[in-house]
Amino acid sequence: MNVKYVINGELNAEEIIEVFKSVGWNKNKDIIVPAFKNSYYIMAYYEDELLGFSRAISDNYYYTGIYDVVVKPEYQGRGIAKRMVESLVEEFKGTYFFLTYTEGKRAFYEKCGFEDNSNAMWIPL
Ligand SMILES: CC(C)(COP(=O)(O)OP(=O)(O)OC[C@H]1O[C@@H](n2cnc3c(N)ncnc32)[C@H](O)[C@@H]1OP(=O)(O)O)[C@@H](O)C(=O)NCCC(=O)NCCS
Repeated sequence: MNVKYVINGELNAEEIIEVFKSVGWNKNKDIIVPAFKNSYYIMAYYEDELLGFSRAISDNYYYTGIYDVVVKPEYQGRGIAKRMVESLVEEFKGTYFFLTYTEGKRAFYEKCGFEDNSNAMWIPL
């Protein structure tokens, strides 16, 4: 399967929401495009179909956060998410990377080079 990766490309709210929905995540259609636009994002396509995406928010010097790493279930297990995360890590090489993971996803991020940091905290919504 020839997966095409596009950086900071066209954004279609419906398409993005559909990918989120495929993994059971509900996002607000009215703010998802501006949120992506305020990020550096990579999208994976097969022909015209959006398969998944991942995005980063960075100061370009010190710190980078990685968010919304999602691949549609039927395309999982092909290395698509890892390739997208690696591309973000390459783009912001030299900065510290941070993320939070959902249950069961720790091993995936370990494969992408992440390690636990017991000093990390957040303010949950
Ligand atoms: C997590 C997710 C993005 C992984 O996508 P994917 O395209 O299937 O992942 P990849 O195929 O790139 O996996 C890369 C490696 O991680 C491993 N991996 C992937 N998901 C894993 C999991 N849940 N547990 C353990 N290992 C996992 C793969 O086996 C693969 O290992 P390998 O390099 O030794 O072959 C996908 O399952 C998903 O979209 N889940 C729902 C949304 C989500 O929870 N996102 C993460 C937010 S914290």
